This record gives sequence, C-alpha cells and structure tokens, in this order.
Amino acid sequence: MKKTKHIIVTGGAGFIGSHLVERLLGDGKNVVVIDDFSTGSLENLRTFAKKPRLKIIRSKISECKNLSKLVADAEFVFHLAATVGVELVVKSALHVLESSFHETQILLKAAAKNSTPFLFASTSEVYGKSAKAEFSEDDDLLIGPPGQSRWSYANAKLTDEFLALAYAREKNLSVIIARLFNTVGPRQTGRYGMVLPRFIAAAKKNEPLRVFGDGKQSRCFCLVTDVVESLVRLQNSKKARGEIFNIGGTEEVSILELAKLVVKTLGSKSKIELIPYDQAYSLGFDDMRRRKPRVKKLERLVKFKPQTPLREIIRMTAD
Ligand SMILES: NC(=O)c1ccc[n+]([C@@H]2O[C@H](COP(=O)([O-])OP(=O)(O)OC[C@H]3O[C@@H](n4cnc5c(N)ncnc54)[C@H](O)[C@@H]3O)[C@@H](O)[C@H]2O)c1
Repeated sequence: MKKTKHIIVTGGAGFIGSHLVERLLGDGKNVVVIDDFSTGSLENLRTFAKKPRLKIIRSKISECKNLSKLVADAEFVFHLAATVGVELVVKSALHVLESSFHETQILLKAAAKNSTPFLFASTSEVYGKSAKAEFSEDDDLLIGPPGQSRWSYANAKLTDEFLALAYAREKNLSVIIARLFNTVGPRQTGRYGMVLPRFIAAAKKNEPLRVFGDGKQSRCFCLVTDVVESLVRLQNSKKARGEIFNIGGTEEVSILELAKLVVKTLGSKSKIELIPYDQAYSLGFDDMRRRKPRVKKLERLVKFKPQTPLREIIRMTAD
C-alpha cells in the first residue's frame, strides 16, 4: 500500500506556523512540525495537538533525528523556523546569523536530495532602507551596514533566499520564496517587540502605549490567516516554483495612527507616549519610514490578495 505523505512545517509551534498547521490539518493533511520551542510553544498548538495526523518533533532542525527520512516522506516543506523579533535580533546577531544559514542549508540539502518542494518564509526586511513607495520582488535591495546588528536579520534572510534559489537552479529543487510583511493576529506575542500585540496588551490594561521615534513611520499589517491562505495557494501553484512573492496587507498606517486606532477600537483609557529610538533599542537604530508591498504578482498568480481591514484585525487579535 502506498504510504500517505506528510507536510513538514518548521517553526510550526510559532505564531504563523501554528496557523499554517491548523489550516493544513483542516485540509485533511498529515503534518510534521519541527520546532525547538525557542520562541514557539505547545500552547499555540493546544487545540489540535492531539490530532493523530499531527506529529510534533521538539528539536532544532540541525539536531533533528531522521531529518533526511522525514523530508523524503514529505510532499512539501514549509520552512518558517527562524529567530524573529527586533528585540531578539538587536540582542544577539550571532544567534540570528548562526541559526539561520546553517539550519536552512541542512534543510535545503535534504529537500534537494529527495526532490521535495520547498517554501522559504523570508521577510520585507530584505528591502532594507529602500525609499520606494511600494516594494516589488525584483527591486534592488539596500541593506544597512554590518556594524548595526539590527540588519543581521535582513542579511540572514537574504542569504537564505540566495541559497534557496541556488538550489533551485543548480540542484533542480522546486523552491518558492515568500517575503512576508508585518503579519499580525491571534497567538502573536508582544514579548519580542512586535508592535500590535504590545499595543493591545497595554490598551487592555489602560497603560501607556509606547510609540518609538516620531510615530510617523508607516507599515501595512496583514492578518495571519490571509498570509496562510497565500502560502497554501502558492504551495499548490506549479507556476510559483522558482519565484519570489511579497505577501502583505496594503492598507498603510503610521504607528502613531495605529496606536490611536487600538485605543479607540478597544475603548481604552491609555495615553500614547513617544519614546526615542535610542531609548527603545540602542544608539543609531535605523528604522524604515515606510514598508508597503506590491502584491500584484501574488494576486495575478493565485487570485488572492490579503485585505482584512485593520480595525477587524485589531478586534480579532484583542479577543
Ligand atoms: N511575524 C511577522 O510579521 C513576520 C514577518 C516577516 C517574516 N516572518 C517570518 O515568518 C516565520 C515565522 O515567524 P513568526 O512570526 O511565526 O515567529 P515565531 O517566533 O512565532 O516562530 C518561529 C518558530 O521557529 C522556531 N525555531 C526557531 N529556530 C528554530 C530552529 N533552529 N529549529 C527549529 N525551530 C526553530 C521557534 O521556536 C518558533 O516556534 C519566520 O521565518 C519569520 O522570519 C514573520
């Protein structure tokens, strides 16, 4: 009898990974999670952790026993495991760099050996300091200098993109690169500096919302289930193989406006405080003024565009 294949989700106990796992299980798939629980948790998988079609392996990718066999028996690999969050990145560039390239390389090697299609979760951070109004997948990239550790995350992700595409060209591996923009929603923790959960937690307690810099820097937020929908559609599209896709919301909002909207939506009594960047992070911290994706390529190929309104996202996350 032919064995049913599974789908591997590295980082499956994390914020986005757990939503992806939930969706794949809902689609009737067998899922294997590989996660070292460094920032993820079993709590994120709690409601479906006992499903027989889910196997959870608590391990770093590089230390995972039988990785090659697991990848050989997989129909697809979603690689989401990474060290995420500005605070963690500023604190230890070494950890970010070492845990990124090394882990991704091991996984890509196993995927190439077994011809298992692969999706790599990259980030809008790779666009660096670009001043363009909208970022497109084939833009030149302008990353800050290595003296500033905050750029190590962008650099690590970009190197992983190069590596994955080199495997695609030279080892004939089916690879998709998904550049995720600010993703938000239920289960995201504010512990590592993510802005929306930080604001919501403060607003619920009527404590001040701390906005870094002048608050005029703007972002586009995307609901995690819209990201997951995009990832699954990309997985199922043969034409996506070998390509890079932006995934993100397109409703631009300044961080100060976001703070006001959170206070208003939740009926909170919180005040808003502006905190200089060098107090929030370290001297010379570089932030991007705008970060808006062009998502035409995604929309054209998979006929889907994330568009859950921000107010609704805030409500769902707060609940
Ligand atoms: N959340 C966002 O806004 C956003 C934006 C752009 C890109 N991304 C990317 O999406 C992916 C998921 O991010 P997230 O927000 O869910 O973060 P997360 O921290 O919740 O998830 C990452 C998961 O990877 C696990 N992990 C880390 N290193 C590992 C290793 N070496 N081996 C096994 N597991 C490991 C962690 O325990 C965690 O569960 C990441 O690759 C991140 O770079 C996220």
